[in-house]
Amino acid sequence: MDSGVVPWLERHWTLSLVLTLALATLLPQILKLYLRRQRLLRALRPFPGLPTNWLGGNKRYEPEEELQAFEELPQKYPSALPLWFGPFHAILFIYDPEYAKIFLNRKDPKTSVAYKFLIPWLGRGLLILHGEKWHYHRRLVTPAFHFNILKDYIHLIKDSARMMLDEWEKLRTEDSSMEVSESISFMALDSVLKCTFSVQDLSKENSFLNTYFQNVSKIANLVCSRMYSFFYHSDFIYKLSSDFQEFRALCQEVKKRPAKIIQDRKAAFKNPGEQEKIQKKKKYLDFLDILFQARDAEGGGFTDEELVDEVNTFMFAGQDTMASGLSWTLYCLAMNPEHQKKCREEIQGILEDEDSITWDHLNQMPYSTMCLKEALRLYPPGPKIGRQLIEPITFPDGRSLPSGVIVILNIWALHCNPAIWENPLVFDPERFSPENCEKRHPYAFLPFSAGSRNCIGQQFAMILMKVGLALTLLRFELFPDLEKPPVASPQIVLRPKNGIHLHVKPLH
Ligand code: HEM
Ligand SMILES: *[C@@H]1O[C@H](CO)[C@@H](O)[C@H](O)[C@H]1NC(C)=O
Repeated sequence: MDSGVVPWLERHWTLSLVLTLALATLLPQILKLYLRRQRLLRALRPFPGLPTNWLGGNKRYEPEEELQAFEELPQKYPSALPLWFGPFHAILFIYDPEYAKIFLNRKDPKTSVAYKFLIPWLGRGLLILHGEKWHYHRRLVTPAFHFNILKDYIHLIKDSARMMLDEWEKLRTEDSSMEVSESISFMALDSVLKCTFSVQDLSKENSFLNTYFQNVSKIANLVCSRMYSFFYHSDFIYKLSSDFQEFRALCQEVKKRPAKIIQDRKAAFKNPGEQEKIQKKKKYLDFLDILFQARDAEGGGFTDEELVDEVNTFMFAGQDTMASGLSWTLYCLAMNPEHQKKCREEIQGILEDEDSITWDHLNQMPYSTMCLKEALRLYPPGPKIGRQLIEPITFPDGRSLPSGVIVILNIWALHCNPAIWENPLVFDPERFSPENCEKRHPYAFLPFSAGSRNCIGQQFAMILMKVGLALTLLRFELFPDLEKPPVASPQIVLRPKNGIHLHVKPLH
């Protein structure tokens, strides 16, 4: 009997060959990971952070806990905080206005994870693109958001809002609260769909709007659970999951209708007589009309596929964000009756009834606008935006990072940073009085981001939220349901987990 490994391996030469090969392929991988970790450790050295262990990284926060944690963290770690996810992945959170200013005036791509997960749905629309291609799209899309175009949309938004309020009237009861955020979300989607495609009878065609709404919500949920389950960040692993099967099927479904509408519209465009007839009936240009007509200096425009991607991007970037903004605003006003009263008086002072609201009114409600902004500060609908550094960055305090690192501007933490905001968790609309705004750093309040990649839909969003707010306050008084407080959950959009429960009492 011989012991000893070498003679044993000599006898089992096939096995030893396999072992050697395996080792030879694995070693470079292991070395690569090791070097990656060393590089990240070195890069993040100037930024002290939470205790980590090499295998697990930091304490893992649930989405909702993360918000709570960032009420305290900025005091201990000013301006920035690294977070480790396991041994090989780390990001740097920033939440300081000076940091934000530098970060938002660069050209780093959004290859950081969450955006990538949206590609099967949004394709390569404005939100995801970068570089030359982004610039080209941005130029072609910008005219669609000109106020001359937007001011015609007030009627469409008003109709959607009234439909929602009629529904509330039917569903409300004397003694129990109702969940409002889902119907607000539905209203936002209805508005975006009308303004984009002018499909006027969508609300009657309830089965489409309903299933589209449900499908889009499901997609957002799937992307979100992928974001928070680190295992699924690997495409390879994700593709083996049942989530992926559902995700892919849903993406295909929700793209069908927009693609069909675009085809039909294109056919109509080829026939000028038909086109004129449609336009006369409609009396305004919808987003799709503008995108169709968009031409660059050489006369080029969007391809069909690009149009589908842009249109889907509007649906995604608009619906949930506006719904979140308006839902949280109504919640804040329900919690703060004295401010609710002031807003209502302001609105009653300019509007006779729901139907009379026009573009001009929207500039005559300064107090309500201050309340809206204060709600967007406390509950920014887009709580985090990320980039992967394309070249090194140096922050104003001298600390720097090499290219390749993922940096995330934590807008929520910025908006609650006690170094900038006094009593940050208190709802106080006076923060947005003209005097106070002037005193503040221009990058302290960034619900719509800033710089060249700011939100292209921000005026549209303000219009919708103002119309929604004004009509709601004209019709109902709002009270919170203290037994069902909402929980803010920073998914891609800051959503109220379990909804927002309010008592709504008709004024008349
Ligand atoms: C309250 C509502 C909204 C909020 C808080 C919001 C917030 C934001 C933020 C923070 C960004 C920057 C994202 C990043 O840099 O990664 C952004 C970008 C964008 N938003 Fe909005 N948004 C809102 C409504 C809308 C609406 C209604 C539309 C369109 C109909 C829209 C379309 C876009 C697009 C296309 C971009 C990408 C712009 C670019 O990169 O050039 N958003 N939005
Ligand atoms: C929503 O998804 C279901 C099932 O995947 C599909 O049957 C339906 O046509 C979809 N509807 C829309 C409007 O996307």
